[in-house]
Amino acid sequence: MSSSRGQWQSNMGFLLAAIGSAIGLGNVWRFSYMAHQYGGGAFLVPYIVALIVAGLPIILLEYGLGHQEKGSSPLSFRRIGPRYEWLGWWMPVVAMFGIMLYYSVIIGWCFNYLVYAITMAWGNDPQAFFFNDFLAISPSAAEIGGFRPQILMSTALCWFLCWLINFRDVRHGIEKASKIFMPSLLILTFILVGWTLTLDGAKEAIFSHYLSTDWSKINIFSADVASRINAREVWVAAFGQIFFTLSLGFGIMITYASYLPKQNNIGRNALITCIVNCCYSLIAGLTVFGVVGFMAKTQGLPFAEAIKGGPQLAFVIYPTAISLLPAYNHLFGILFFLILCIAGLTSGVSLIEAFTCSLTDKFNWPRKKVVTGVCGAGFMGSLIFTTNGGLYLLDIADHFITHYGLIVGGLLECLIIGWILKSATIRNHLNTSGSAIPLVWNFCVRYTTPVILLCLVYFSVTGDLQKNYGGYATPQLLMYGGGSLLLCGTVALAFTLYPWDKRKLQREHQPEEDDLLI
Ligand code: PHE
Repeated sequence: MSSSRGQWQSNMGFLLAAIGSAIGLGNVWRFSYMAHQYGGGAFLVPYIVALIVAGLPIILLEYGLGHQEKGSSPLSFRRIGPRYEWLGWWMPVVAMFGIMLYYSVIIGWCFNYLVYAITMAWGNDPQAFFFNDFLAISPSAAEIGGFRPQILMSTALCWFLCWLINFRDVRHGIEKASKIFMPSLLILTFILVGWTLTLDGAKEAIFSHYLSTDWSKINIFSADVASRINAREVWVAAFGQIFFTLSLGFGIMITYASYLPKQNNIGRNALITCIVNCCYSLIAGLTVFGVVGFMAKTQGLPFAEAIKGGPQLAFVIYPTAISLLPAYNHLFGILFFLILCIAGLTSGVSLIEAFTCSLTDKFNWPRKKVVTGVCGAGFMGSLIFTTNGGLYLLDIADHFITHYGLIVGGLLECLIIGWILKSATIRNHLNTSGSAIPLVWNFCVRYTTPVILLCLVYFSVTGDLQKNYGGYATPQLLMYGGGSLLLCGTVALAFTLYPWDKRKLQREHQPEEDDLLI
């Protein structure tokens, strides 16, 4: 007899799905830009420290909680205590309404550009093409304008593919797709990196801007006040990046671990997820720095002027570099955008899964209907980001959701697990199911990580109060930034208030065959 919940067919399937969620668009452009801005190789020090003191402890916490409670995040938190259920909802609701609605549109852009790469439709001026022809961007965030038909269609395609993958249970849907997508992603990335290294100017840029170190940028004890403040910002950014890149604070890893069999070395799985994800970022950084270096050299520009962050990196810099390549330009473009599409899709399905599983756990609705409803509603919700003003809205929503929604979720998560449920309970559970988690983990979950997250929230709040984020007008920031947080909070509250079926709250007996499925 199999469990009423889905279950991964193999540990490898689970790992590939979790790594698929972690490796996303952020590994390619967010990481590379940060590495450049915050001191090149020196950035790796705060990045690795953040990985060890926050990333690894929280991923273990999420895996441990999902595995112990065998539930999505609302169910798991509800079992800790009724008053914590709201946080359990907050995380997948933020994943779905705060992130996926715009993440799907960016994946849509990648689909569009995959097609454009075939003919290099961006022509001689990729910047004008991206902003004027493709987005037809409105003059300010106050004017959202009308829909962009090609973006609308590619966003619909993204939702359709996610629906297709999420429709069946995890074993036949996400696990199967991850087994195809993840190895392909790694192979394609290695090809792209190898190719990049052959470009003129690539190796020099990598050595002088990526692998070089500017220690002064990370020295928080510097005698100079200004550089001390800048260094503080670098450390905050590194922690934020670790959180985002490991998909923590969304309830995703809780849900994925709930599909694991009883005996499982979760400690090892957490370590592998972290290492593979971070190595992928480091490797993807090679291609980004190499390509920017090649473009800077060919155009005679200084490197610092050539590199850009966010969407511009993928949709302006890369197309420019692709057009300058000596041979096989189309192929290089297809390879790059295919990598983005795959990385984005495997993260997208995980965002949907966290929310879908929360609904099926609470309401007992059939999975297929829930997935269809969620994807249909999600597509409707993402329409606003397919307008002429979409890029502004997306930028504002992203800032507020990642700086507040995510970090506050993670902070509360640490406090509740560390102090209410007691981290020792999860550690005992993990150790009896086949892991060997050191005692210091308790300390991280109860003290180190919450203190660091509190600092992050403090720095974000003070930064945002000092000046309007991105120079946007206050009404737009309140409407789209504050509005998206408010929407998530209200939806989470509405789901929390709905009464549970009492049987659901009892811990399910795990079937015998679990033990065999390691
Ligand atoms: N981890 C993904 C990345 O680095 C982003 C992501 C965040 C995916 C949250 C799913 C959930 O791009």
